[in-house]
Amino acid sequence: MSEAKPPADSSVDPSVGDRHIHSRAGNPVPEPRVASMFDSIAPVYDRMNTIMTAGLDGRWRRAAVRATRVTAGGSAVDLACGTGKLTAALAVAVGPNGRVVGVDLSTAMLEEARRAFGDLAQIEFVAGNALALPFEANVFDAATIAFGLRNLASFADGFREMARVVRPGGRVVCLELTTPRPKILGRFYTGVFGRMAPLVGRAFGRREAYAYLPHSLDGFPSAEELAGTMRGVGLANVKVRRLALGAVALHTGEVPQNL
Ligand SMILES: C[S@@+](CC[C@H](N)C(=O)[O-])C[C@H]1O[C@@H](n2cnc3c(N)ncnc32)[C@H](O)[C@@H]1O
Repeated sequence: MSEAKPPADSSVDPSVGDRHIHSRAGNPVPEPRVASMFDSIAPVYDRMNTIMTAGLDGRWRRAAVRATRVTAGGSAVDLACGTGKLTAALAVAVGPNGRVVGVDLSTAMLEEARRAFGDLAQIEFVAGNALALPFEANVFDAATIAFGLRNLASFADGFREMARVVRPGGRVVCLELTTPRPKILGRFYTGVFGRMAPLVGRAFGRREAYAYLPHSLDGFPSAEELAGTMRGVGLANVKVRRLALGAVALHTGEVPQNL
């Protein structure tokens, strides 16, 4: 009997032995729809985030900044920057002589970011696609993406683009939701997130967009698979740290000299 072949765009989770689970290689929702959903939730995004993460997101972002190892006078690009919270934390780390650029598809999210952090001289917010960054190669000390990767049409291309714009020896950092282990905790979490996000969305009058969020995790690669994707695009010293009882993963990789 011939073995069933995985779909061309899938990867295999090595952590599940011979029970192969095939994950998506990217978000199937078209970019214009993703952008318009984030446009619609931009004014309430930060408040909803605080509710849904019980205020822990600040701690996770600080861990992401530390993982970049940027220091005063350094530089970073923050992909899918949204309302700019991680971008701003990076700006504090590089100080007034550094440079941080936040890039996002959604003009409304960028407006919120500019309103909150536009007065910091070392920050710039630009409209753009994480998969086609408007920068030369090797220009930043670090690239970050927080809760944005799962929205991209190709996760590998997202990491490839981050690695392209970071200088050799610099860091690529990804903060993203993941399915917690053990499996029972994962099921509980998926159930709670799947029900809670649309309910909170309805309370804020943004039902459609917040129904999208839990679905964007369906078939999303495990933390181990994502680490494999990073290695696959040539990143070195790839490491994963689990936060929030394993519900959030912080991935870090280094751009090698010869990428
Ligand atoms: C869940 S929000 C995360 C925002 C922010 N990074 C944070 O930590 O709160 C996801 C963001 O990704 C942006 N986004 C989605 N696809 C994108 C793409 N292809 N390029 C740039 N930004 C994108 C959305 O507009 C949205 O602002």
